[in-house]
Amino acid sequence: GKGAAMVTAVAYRLADQHRARQKTLESLKLSHEQLLEVKRRMKVEMEQGLSKETHAVAPVKMLPTYVCATPDGTEKGDFLALDLGGTNFRVLLVRVRNGKRRGVEMHNKIYSIPQEVMHGTGEELFDHIVQCIADFLEYMGMKGVSLPLGFTFSFPCQQNSLDQSILLKWTKGFKASGCEGEDVVTLLKEAIHRREEFDLDVVAVVNDTVGTMMTCGYEDPHCEVGLIVGTGSNACYMEEMRNVELVDGEEGRMCVNMEWGAFGDNGCLDDLRTVFDVAVDELSLNPGKQRFEKMISGMYLGEIVRNILIDFTKRGLLFRGRISERGEAREEGGARDCLALLQVRAILRHLGLESTCDDSIIVKEVCTVVARRAAQLCGAGMAAVVDKIRENRGLDNLKVTVGVDGTLYKLHPHFAKVMHETVRDLAPKCDVSFLESEDGSGKGAALITAVACRIREAGQR
Ligand code: GLC
Repeated sequence: GKGAAMVTAVAYRLADQHRARQKTLESLKLSHEQLLEVKRRMKVEMEQGLSKETHAVAPVKMLPTYVCATPDGTEKGDFLALDLGGTNFRVLLVRVRNGKRRGVEMHNKIYSIPQEVMHGTGEELFDHIVQCIADFLEYMGMKGVSLPLGFTFSFPCQQNSLDQSILLKWTKGFKASGCEGEDVVTLLKEAIHRREEFDLDVVAVVNDTVGTMMTCGYEDPHCEVGLIVGTGSNACYMEEMRNVELVDGEEGRMCVNMEWGAFGDNGCLDDLRTVFDVAVDELSLNPGKQRFEKMISGMYLGEIVRNILIDFTKRGLLFRGRISERGEAREEGGARDCLALLQVRAILRHLGLESTCDDSIIVKEVCTVVARRAAQLCGAGMAAVVDKIRENRGLDNLKVTVGVDGTLYKLHPHFAKVMHETVRDLAPKCDVSFLESEDGSGKGAALITAVACRIREAGQR
């Protein structure tokens, strides 16, 4: 009768909707060939960033860090560390011991940076930072003690030495005025002088990737790569000095902060970006910038998912679509409503679609697809890095450890696994281990400061 025909129509409409959603999600699924192509393009962009000739126009900046030595275990002393640019702003006191009691002990305090400070003036931002340092020194009972300081500043910076760092551009959620093009050590020192309360000896400015690599390097000498997948995403690794064309000298190696988040800013990933990626980018604080980061990191994945869900809903493929179905069924009256739904389910089951039409399942699937793509893209980038290290050294096989930090990597249920599989798949000649850093940014800044102090003291002798 009429009822049965309606039930069948509803079931077929749901099947159509399922097909429409799958079609959209297909655009977010990457094949092995596409991922290999991402790896290949990353390699090209890395070379463009390293080369003196193309560096100025290269989006992947490959910035020299002036970190050449990893900790050798003889470092010691007390250090202050600042960590700005991740989920939280922190001030840390780090004690590094050598000899029998070799190891690192830390105290830290987390401070929030209100949105209006992140988006205010540079002076306000640095005054706030110094205010937090003052609070920390007071809290630790260390007012008046002057310690060497390592500053983990997780933004792209041009360094000409370890203790000078010019901010090239803000990324992630920051947009304080008057900082781009300035040396962040100077900005920090000026804020300290404005306060006239204490002085600090800023020894090193470090990217969080570098801090993470150094922290893991303290435990594992094979660790020559650092990776962050948190609010933002980025990597660093030990590059041959002869390839670091921006710095004189041919001998040895230097850690390079890739700033891989900017991969694709020249359009080289446009064929892979979806309308959702474009929408997220256009509505961000920095349109056109950090396009790779916006496909990978925690600050943006939720936005991509939200855009897809809105699209589904607008096209009647989610939430509202289902509300209207219920409404139609309800017109038939209470008892028959129940019967109709059972019939719809039976037909859907027959079509193999039953479970895919539940809203919560659709939402979950969207999240899975977006996170999986992020992990695979990240893996493709990492495959380019480890293969470059291997080729640099003319090796058939390379054994290397990647130190990793970041909330997305550490907390997402599948991200790490998918990323590891992708690296294994795309860089089969590399035997890559991943080591999670414990508080890489803070500890790493202190370790780099400790190494610098060790070298400085040796030089003074
Ligand atoms: C952003 C920053 C980069 C940092 C990364 C992870 O990409 O530009 O410097 O390493 O986020 O925090």
